[in-house]
Amino acid sequence: MNGKPVLEVENLSVCYATRRGLATAVDRVSFTIYENEVVGLVGESGCGKSTMANAIMRLLGDGAYVTGGSIRVMGQDVYRLKGDALRQFRWTQMAMVFQGAMNVLNPVKTVESQIVDTLLAHRPGMSKQQARARAEELFRLVRIDPKRLQSFPHELSGGMRQRVVIAIAVALEPKFIIMDEPTTALDVIVQKSILEQIMELRDRLGFSILFISHDFNLVQEISNRVGVMYAGRLVEMSKSASDLALTPRHPYTQGLIRAIPKLTSDDEDIQGIPGSPPSASNRPSGCAFHPRCPYAKPICRTVEPGMTTVAGNLIECHLSEDELRSMTYAER
Ligand SMILES: Nc1ncnc2c1ncn2[C@@H]1O[C@H](COP(=O)(O)OP(=O)(O)OP(=O)(O)O)[C@@H](O)[C@H]1O
Ligand SMILES: [Mg+2]
Repeated sequence: MNGKPVLEVENLSVCYATRRGLATAVDRVSFTIYENEVVGLVGESGCGKSTMANAIMRLLGDGAYVTGGSIRVMGQDVYRLKGDALRQFRWTQMAMVFQGAMNVLNPVKTVESQIVDTLLAHRPGMSKQQARARAEELFRLVRIDPKRLQSFPHELSGGMRQRVVIAIAVALEPKFIIMDEPTTALDVIVQKSILEQIMELRDRLGFSILFISHDFNLVQEISNRVGVMYAGRLVEMSKSASDLALTPRHPYTQGLIRAIPKLTSDDEDIQGIPGSPPSASNRPSGCAFHPRCPYAKPICRTVEPGMTTVAGNLIECHLSEDELRSMTYAER
């Protein structure tokens, strides 16, 4: 991959303290995102996507701990930043659009004052007037009439609120933005226009994105590469999003793809993955996916698979390239 690394996650583990002990939500995950890249991250609910995003932003709540590994953004180890340096780094170098973010705008403040506050908190030399002018510019950038700056969040549609949240994320021109389910609560048409907008902003401002979603189709549409998480592990990282139909995939990814509704088929053709994912506190031995994997071999029950390269994709699976390939073609 070309360019400089923007995000480097190495061997990251994150645990939650629960009444039954430590539950591992992210388990020894490593990947890199380069300049101008969009990397998608998919996986069923509870597989650890948001936990990883919060760990990268240093926004883990009480009871959550990074238990191993490192995270670098623009070469800076984010866990070495303290106090003001961390607050400055966040939003100026890395920003996040949170899952359900459009509902976290402050309901009793105009959207203008929320944007202005963010700008002033990070740009001490900026006057209030300059911040207001920048807020107008940001509104134009996300295609909202600047007259709406005086609105309160509830006076805006869901799509507009989400655009405001995106405007705040890009306000300080960070080089890296995490978007956690940025369009999930929106209808399909608004979703599409927001995605187009995100890509347009990316082209203009030149940031990299970690794009988290349940929706494989959506992720595939906008990502250069796609990572797949299962039970806290990154079980696959594709070399490109477009090779999806052509190359062998992890059996779990195959299952995710089969579960996508297709416009051309009846509902009966959709096959979900049987069973449900394990909880973070109760992961199966060996390969965590083995109880649900139709191709599991005895070794899968006992030995954790390592990462291997299969047709250019990184896959964590005991099946050989030939086995994965024959399975891929048999399923199509
Ligand atoms: N505050 C918490 N305390 C204890 N366990 C938690 C907490 N937050 C999340 N978890 C557990 O950590 C695991 C990962 O959760 P996480 O929210 O990161 O998943 P996710 O992939 O973002 O899911 P979704 O797609 O539903 O947003 C889950 O098993 C979840 O139950
Ligand atoms: Mg989540």
